[in-house]
Amino acid sequence: MNDTTFLYRDDAGIPKLYCEGSALDEIALKYGTPLYVYSREQILQNYKSFSNAIKKTGNKNWVSYAVKANSNLEILRILAEQGAGASVVSGAELLAALKAGFDPKKISFDGPGKTDDEISLAIRSEIFAIDIESIQELSVVNDIAKSLDKKAGICIRVNPHVDAKTHPYISTGLSHNKFGIPFDKAFDAYRAAKSFSHLEIVGLHSHIGSQITEVSPFVEAAESISQFILDLREQEGIVIKHINVGGGEGISYHNVVMHPLLPNDELVNSVPSIDDFVSSVATILSRTGCTINTEPGRAIVANACALITKVLFTKSNGEKHFVIADAAMSDLMRPSLYQAYHEIIPIQINPNSIQKKVDVVGPICETGDFLAKDRLMNDAHRGDMLAVLCAGAYGYVLASNYNLRPRAAEVLVDGSSYKIIRNREQVEDIIG
Ligand code: LLP
Repeated sequence: MNDTTFLYRDDAGIPKLYCEGSALDEIALKYGTPLYVYSREQILQNYKSFSNAIKKTGNKNWVSYAVKANSNLEILRILAEQGAGASVVSGAELLAALKAGFDPKKISFDGPGKTDDEISLAIRSEIFAIDIESIQELSVVNDIAKSLDKKAGICIRVNPHVDAKTHPYISTGLSHNKFGIPFDKAFDAYRAAKSFSHLEIVGLHSHIGSQITEVSPFVEAAESISQFILDLREQEGIVIKHINVGGGEGISYHNVVMHPLLPNDELVNSVPSIDDFVSSVATILSRTGCTINTEPGRAIVANACALITKVLFTKSNGEKHFVIADAAMSDLMRPSLYQAYHEIIPIQINPNSIQKKVDVVGPICETGDFLAKDRLMNDAHRGDMLAVLCAGAYGYVLASNYNLRPRAAEVLVDGSSYKIIRNREQVEDIIG
C-alpha cells in the first residue's frame, strides 16, 4: 500500500501524531472526541493507485468508488473531481453521488432490494446501469422504464460461486449468498433482458466480497466470467461490452503507523498491490474485448482516517485491564460486528510508558462493545487521546445512536489546514 499520511513528529522530545501537517491533539481539542479525522492527500493517493493501475489496462476502463464505504459529501466531491465513477446502493446514495458531481454515465446502482421509487430515480437520472439481481427485478425495471418512456441500462449481477476467503458476513460471491444470479441461470436472465422492450444490456456485474487479501479469488471469478461472456456470445448472440468486476480489494490493518516506542504488531497481513489486483483481473478479461471497471470502497478511504477517542477511565478487574474510551461500538462497529482489528495508538507517546495488555472498550452497556481485545499497548491514562486507525471505511456510515449517543463529528485535513465536514450530532437532534 501507500505511505501513510498519519505520522509521528517529534515535539520537544515527545512524539506527537499528525495527519499530514496538522497535529491531531490540536484538532481533537478544537472539535472534541470521538472524532473522525480524514486525510485528503491519502484519499487522493489511494484513488490514484487505482486510476493509474486501471489506465495501464486500457484507456476506456474506469474506477468507481463504492459510496457505501463512506458517503460524506466532501469525500464524495474529492473523488468526483478526480473523474471517478460511483457505485451506489440506495436512492439516497444516488442523490448524494449526483449532488457531489459524479457523472451519471459512470454511476451504477447495486443491491438486491431496490424499491420502485429508487429504480424510478435511477432511470430518470439516466445512470450507466442498474445491476440486476433476479429475473423478477428485470421485469420490474422494464415496467418502470416503460412507464417513464425511457430505456434502462442494465448489468446482470452474476454470482460466480467463488470463495473470497474473507469474513463470512462480507463474502458475497458464493451460491448460498443472497447476491446475484448463478451462471446457469444467468443465461436465462440475459435472454429475458434481451426480450424486454425498455432495457438495454450494457454489461455484466460481479462482486465476490470485501477485504479480500489475495489475488486468487479475483482470478478465479475473472476466469469464469470471461468464459461465460464468450459462451453467451457464441450460443445466444448476446454481446456483453462491459464488465464491472466489483470491489473488495483488501488493505492491511496492521503496522500502519509504527514507532520504536510502541509495541511491535506481530501480525503482518501482507496484501497484494493495487496494480496486482487490477492487472491480474484485466489480463484475464482482456480476451472478452470488454471495457472494465472496478468499484473499490475500503481501499480508497479506510487508511485515510483515524477515529480519535479520549480515555475516560482505566481499571483492572483481577488479571484483566480495561481502557474505557469515549468511542464505542456505536461509533465504530467493525470490531464488535466482525471481530475486526484496528490498530490503536496514542496521540502523544510518553517515552517512559510501560506496555501492557488491555481491552479498549466503549461506554455502551454491552460486553460486545469493544474496540480492541487483549491488545499490547503503551499504558494509557485518564484524559489521554488515542487514534483508532483505518477507520475511514465502514466507520461513520455504520454508526448508530444506540444508548442515545450522538454521532461523532468528521474533519477533513488538507496539509496544515483542516475543516469540519460533518457537525457532531446534538442530543436534541436525537431525542426528538
Ligand atoms: N461493490 C459492491 C457490490 C459491494 O457490495 C461492495 C461492498 C463494494 C463494491 C465495495 O467493497 P470494498 O472495496 O469496500 O471491499 N461493512 C463491511 C464491508 C461490507 C462490504 C459491503 N459491500 C466491513 O466493515 O468490513
